[in-house]
Amino acid sequence: MDSLLIKGGTPLHGDVTVSGAKNAVLPIMAATLLTGEECVIRRVPKLSDVTFMAEILKSLGAEVKIADGTLTVRAAKLNGVGDYDLIRKMRGSICILGPLLARLHKAKVSLPGGCVIGSRPVDLHLKGIKALGAKVTIDSGYILAKAPKLIGADLFLGGRAGPTVLGTANVMMAATLAEGVTIIESAACEPEVMDVANFLNAMGAKISGIGSPTITITGVKELHGAEHDVIPDRIEAATFAIAAAATDGEVTIHGARTDHMHAVLDKLREAGVKVERKGPSLVVSRGRSLKPVDITTLPYSGFPTDCQAQMMALMMLTNGISIITERVFESRFMHVSEMARLGADIAIEGPSAIVKGGAPLSGAAVMASDLRASAALVIAGMVARGQTLVKRIYHLDRGYENIDDKLRGLGAKIERVQET
Ligand code: EPZ
Repeated sequence: MDSLLIKGGTPLHGDVTVSGAKNAVLPIMAATLLTGEECVIRRVPKLSDVTFMAEILKSLGAEVKIADGTLTVRAAKLNGVGDYDLIRKMRGSICILGPLLARLHKAKVSLPGGCVIGSRPVDLHLKGIKALGAKVTIDSGYILAKAPKLIGADLFLGGRAGPTVLGTANVMMAATLAEGVTIIESAACEPEVMDVANFLNAMGAKISGIGSPTITITGVKELHGAEHDVIPDRIEAATFAIAAAATDGEVTIHGARTDHMHAVLDKLREAGVKVERKGPSLVVSRGRSLKPVDITTLPYSGFPTDCQAQMMALMMLTNGISIITERVFESRFMHVSEMARLGADIAIEGPSAIVKGGAPLSGAAVMASDLRASAALVIAGMVARGQTLVKRIYHLDRGYENIDDKLRGLGAKIERVQET
């Protein structure tokens, strides 16, 4: 396993370009199963999750090619029996459920199981496909779904933590080939869900209300191939903006969709970070001095849970007390104990982390636990005095394309080392 060895104290300076969004490309790859015709997806980031999903599509019988960020899929002959060792290992594979059900009228998909940020239930996914007429059984850790015919329905898809991103994508994809009209209430409004819906419409689906809590899908007989450019990754862009402020540098971020980043940019400005537009790009620097801020993570367009850990790293450097409340996942503070090893003073009270910022950070060996926690540890390591070794960075490689190359390009003293 790889680790990242970081020498702290170097402000980031220069230009970085945002890659395509992981959380859009995974469901879009699943959506290519809905047609036997060729689909061409551009701006596909080089991520291990994308490689995994490509292997899953191949195991289902699709022809898949990836070259220079362009993915070509032709799911002409689907065998419907995927590589269950792969499907079991990748939580995001749950989003093949809807497309397989719509195309083959049956699907066998692994229950995702939990992870460090929460139990990751899929009850809403199953509620949605059952509403469309699917018969669902659970057998030996797998979801077995059958539906000789999917019938459009009105359904409420909100859960205890609000809408479900992949649940909305799954039900929306299944509904594209259902008979009649489906209305999804309390649908997720994330830009990534909008990107999936726009790709489906390019394939000939009839989806309206995209980006709103009420999505209407009028079923069609079949979908055809399409081409699509994946939206830029707003979470990667935010991660680089936070890193620029944390290291007291100045970074120009190219290719971000600032209209997808209002909550994060607003919170950064409230914290005293300078965020300016330069044409289509963003220029981010620390500004005069950082101020503590309170953050509550919410479904879009609220502050994204996927930026919570990174903002915590910034607040650790800010004199004063910041309260960070996680309302989307039940246990997304795994990074707190690792941050304490760098000298952070953070107390967890229920869903909130109370960050007493300003203490100097000193480098240490820390363990990555989930994708965004790993990014936060890298940010903290770039500021901490001395050396920081972030271990198990396969978590990072799941969701950030060449993050160490991109950070080195901004002057960071960071190198990938084999873990002893
Ligand atoms: C997507 O996960 C993202 N992953 C996550 O990004 C992101 O944090 C999350 O949405 C929230 O924005 C991908 O798109 C691949 P949810 P998803 O269903 O769809 C509960 C990252 O770091 N829930 O919106 O799995 C659930 O427990 C990853 O890039 C149910 O109760 O998340 C959670 O509390 C991490 N029942 C809340 O809803 C269900 O059936 C939101 O989960 C489904 C979800």
